Amino acid sequence: MRSARLMKVFVTRRIPPEGWAALARAADCEVEQWDSDEPIPDKELERGMAGAHGLLCLLTDHVDKRLLDAAGDNLKVISTLSVGVDHLALDEIKKRGIRVGYTPDVLTDTTAELAVSLLLTTGRRLPEAIAEVKNGGWSSWKPLWLCGYGLTQSTVGIIGLGRIGQAIARLLKPFGVQRFLYTGRQPKPQDAAEFQAEFVPTLQLAAESDFVVVTCSLTPATKGLCNSEFFQKMKKTAVFINISRGDVVNQDDLYQALASGQIAAAGLDVTTPEPLPTNHPLLTLKNCVILPHIGSATYRTRNNMSLLAANNLLAGLRGEPMPSELKL
Ligand code: NDP
Ligand code: DGY
Repeated sequence: MRSARLMKVFVTRRIPPEGWAALARAADCEVEQWDSDEPIPDKELERGMAGAHGLLCLLTDHVDKRLLDAAGDNLKVISTLSVGVDHLALDEIKKRGIRVGYTPDVLTDTTAELAVSLLLTTGRRLPEAIAEVKNGGWSSWKPLWLCGYGLTQSTVGIIGLGRIGQAIARLLKPFGVQRFLYTGRQPKPQDAAEFQAEFVPTLQLAAESDFVVVTCSLTPATKGLCNSEFFQKMKKTAVFINISRGDVVNQDDLYQALASGQIAAAGLDVTTPEPLPTNHPLLTLKNCVILPHIGSATYRTRNNMSLLAANNLLAGLRGEPMPSELKL
């Protein structure tokens, strides 16, 4: 039988070993886990959450009012294994005095590395080129065959010059980028100085960039931000990259822009929904490269995220400062 002193913790998925070990060592907690690599069904989540003091969740778990009601009054801390918090009903969570932990910084460089890989892969048409080698389309060296777009002397526009946006700019600069533009809620001259990045209106960024990179958080203000108006402003030779969240983009509008040649290409690490159905129109396009949300997917980073998420949870439950607490 559970001792009255133990705090109940519910973990919604198998998590990388370092975080799991930290939770397992916590003598003041009784930890229950959905022991699978696949998402927990809603009913099981509600059952597991009932009476819990702490929740360690993933970006695929929608923590809404209904789930918070199912959890009950014990719930004091929610720790998400992500830096994105758009899956959490923050207003409702704040109203209930629940603390939130998240995982900024530990995934910044890894995600920036993936964004740059995706940008180069998309701009230089690597998936098409690899396919041609395999399917016999490679007949000889031809001056204009499989030409794409490179970074030298380019203008790169970053939507959201936050931690990851800055890390991307830092990696891109040595490729010979001529000019960085950015948008955000307000200018950030101190952060922008390293790249001499210019704060511009969103549609100006669309019009003047050779590469648009979306790295903002998903909020009501950024939902659907990249729509037909945005794509119509972009150059026909420009490449669009999104590593933020699928909902920042109107995907029907993106499809039209790609299919009609309004823009040159797109590389997406995030989509709506996830997974993207295999019969989705975007998957029929040669000029669209889609990855399955792998921005932070290195063993080291996922382990660091799991340890940080576990430490956030334990600190929150013990009433201590969390290593990374979201300010609500
Ligand atoms: P930050 O909070 O450091 O950056 C978020 C940026 O979004 C800020 O620069 C902010 O601008 C900007 N932003 C907010 N509102 C707007 C707006 N209305 N218009 C334009 N920009 C806006 O977060 P991170 O850099 O650490 O992470 C960013 C996002 O990347 C996460 O929220 C997550 O969704 C996604 N992500 C995806 C990963 C993947 O695997 N693909 C991995 C990790 C993160 P301002 O500076 O003005 O506040
Ligand atoms: C996040 O952390 O928000 C990413 O989407 C996954 O690492």
